[in-house]
Amino acid sequence: MKLKLLVTAGDGIGPEVTNEAVAVLKDVMELGGHSLALDFKRIGGVAIVQDGAPLPADTLEAALASDAVLLGAVGGNEFNSLAPDKRPEAGLLAIRAALGGFANLRPAFAFKELAVNSPLRPEIIDGADILFVRELLGGLYFGQPREWNKATNEAWNTMRYTKDEVVRVARIAFQLAQKRRKKLTSVDKANVLEVSQLWRAAVIEVAAEFPDVTLEHQYVDAMAMHIMNRPKDFDVVLTENLFGDILSDEAGVITGSLGMLPSATIGGKVNLYEPIHGSAPDIAGKGLANPMGAILTGALILRHSAGLETEAAAIETAVRKVLEDGFRTPDLARVNPQGYPVLSTKEVGAKVRENVKALLVHA
Ligand code: NAD
Ligand code: IPM
Ligand code: MN
Repeated sequence: MKLKLLVTAGDGIGPEVTNEAVAVLKDVMELGGHSLALDFKRIGGVAIVQDGAPLPADTLEAALASDAVLLGAVGGNEFNSLAPDKRPEAGLLAIRAALGGFANLRPAFAFKELAVNSPLRPEIIDGADILFVRELLGGLYFGQPREWNKATNEAWNTMRYTKDEVVRVARIAFQLAQKRRKKLTSVDKANVLEVSQLWRAAVIEVAAEFPDVTLEHQYVDAMAMHIMNRPKDFDVVLTENLFGDILSDEAGVITGSLGMLPSATIGGKVNLYEPIHGSAPDIAGKGLANPMGAILTGALILRHSAGLETEAAAIETAVRKVLEDGFRTPDLARVNPQGYPVLSTKEVGAKVRENVKALLVHA
């Protein structure tokens, strides 16, 4: 098969982790006799500096002309005083809106090898496997009106959803639940917010189309606690944009590190793939970043945009084997009683590639 992939590595650790993900993808495609056409464009802070805008027109054009987009991360401290629409993050939101994917899938999986690195007790997280379905194009991120009125010292954003926006993402979440453990938890704040009441009513309506899936509702505040107390009770978790942003970072605690989490955004013209972590300015440029979230994001590209399930699973197995073999990045070695070797970003990428080769050559 032929895959045309646009890579927008962005800022901070974005280029470091994306390089490793791309190197793994190149190897996998070659080993499987597939063709990978790569294009590289700027987004975020690097684009503000070089092109004067966080999403240059040629980046957007290339994105719309590709089969899939892999994005590293955007953002940097030097841009923090800019208005929201001028910041690197505005480029990310603009490419999300333009590509149109509204269902952001964020799997959070407890790797048993990393249990020691989690502040949660092993028996709480062992076997936890949650798929967050985060609505990505609505809510506070895009709702109008929005303003910081400096004259009156007031600021406001609007959490807005239409019923159709909820229905379309809920359908995807229910379909995914059907292929998993058939449980869906919808997270809202319906005890306070009208927008959440609409959300809940729409989800209940969609549930009628999926009688084999058990639906429950949780308020977001309680859910933040339940995820930590009893993560194994959840299968698919459906929620709106901001709640999903917050809860999915929290789920990094279950996997042992934010640097392990991939994501795929589907439902639009072109699927967009990003690890869920940010540009991590605190560790950027030092070879300390964990590339496994980005590499696992590559697996999601093969699964959702190329139909290459064997190759996608090979990448996942290869990552798992790196952990089984006792290799760690610094974020995975905060607790390191066995004295496992701590590798750089590039060294971990190389280990994954070795494993992928062994898996696919002998397949
Ligand atoms: P962050 O995710 O960048 O970092 C949070 C913490 O996790 C930091 O201590 C960081 O070192 C660590 N971390 C993150 N990814 C890691 C990895 N792969 N390996 C090892 N450690 C890792 O979040 P932040 O510090 O709140 O934000 C930094 C910048 O990134 C901000 O400008 C923010 O807007 C942006 N951001 C971008 C994206 C994106 O582009 N998708 C996502 C989140 C945040
Ligand atoms: C994420 C990030 C983004 C978001 C920011 C950088 C716009 O935190 O992908 O989780 O809030 O969606
Ligand atoms: Mn986030």
